[in-house]
Amino acid sequence: MELNDVICGHKSIREYEDREISQELLDEILNAGIRASSSGNMQSYSIIITKDKELKKKLYSAHMEQSMVVDAPILLTFCADFNRMRKWLTLNDAPIHFDNFMSFMIGAIDATLAAQNCALAAENAGLGICYMGSTLANCDQIGKILDLPPNVVPVVGYSLGYPAENPAPRDRLPPHGLVHYDQYHDYSEEEILEIYKERNEKGWKRYMDIPRLKEMTERLGLKNLAQVYTIAKYTKESHHEFSQTVLNYLETQNFMNNE
Ligand SMILES: Cc1cc2nc3c(=O)[nH]c(=O)nc-3n(C[C@H](O)[C@H](O)[C@H](O)COP(=O)(O)O)c2cc1C
Repeated sequence: MELNDVICGHKSIREYEDREISQELLDEILNAGIRASSSGNMQSYSIIITKDKELKKKLYSAHMEQSMVVDAPILLTFCADFNRMRKWLTLNDAPIHFDNFMSFMIGAIDATLAAQNCALAAENAGLGICYMGSTLANCDQIGKILDLPPNVVPVVGYSLGYPAENPAPRDRLPPHGLVHYDQYHDYSEEEILEIYKERNEKGWKRYMDIPRLKEMTERLGLKNLAQVYTIAKYTKESHHEFSQTVLNYLETQNFMNNE
């Protein structure tokens, strides 16, 4: 496929055929990830491929019981990883650090770039993926299940497999609402209303068309899509709790040494 067709044809896939992915294809996907840019070419990430059914069952709960975790043949977890680099430094009599927040961010960016390269290679081969925010939100539980040593933290992850659904493409905000030339141009109220016009309509329609979501909006008395986002999906309390989980796990995993 043409690169642009692959990029523009992306849709998150949450239902999968019961069909294995060959090692040859998996290697091709992983190589695409490994070719991504990385800070200082340190490649401060690790990719964990989970196929084992028992492990997937454990991850199902950590991933907030999303069915794709057990239905997809493969789960990929991309971790910020300075464990490997620190071992190499030790063996070469070099000062060892990378135990701070900056290093976590570097690893997180490297991991995310590799993840998206793999995702595009997979989609180019006719596979589907769906990222799971639970990878970071429950990084402590996932880290334990995947047996991560210190200096390794799960950042992004997704299900991978042959699609068993063909969902309609989701809308995007218009480019002029996202792109700034030269300097940031802050938004007037009119611009916000215009930029979010289609999102308000299409997003709300989607909630009204899916019975489970419609029932939820009625139960919570939600009046518009903006309310869906912060009253139903991403509450202040849940984001506060997940933030604390991440901060505590960064401390546990030796990424918060501020000495
Ligand atoms: C970091 C990240 C976390 C996500 N987490 C979830 C998730 O936990 N469950 C889910 O069903 N979709 C998840 N998604 C998928 C988004 O909902 C999806 O990308 C978005 O609605 C746009 O739809 P599209 O990918 O089909 O274009 C996540 C996407 C990203 C990038």
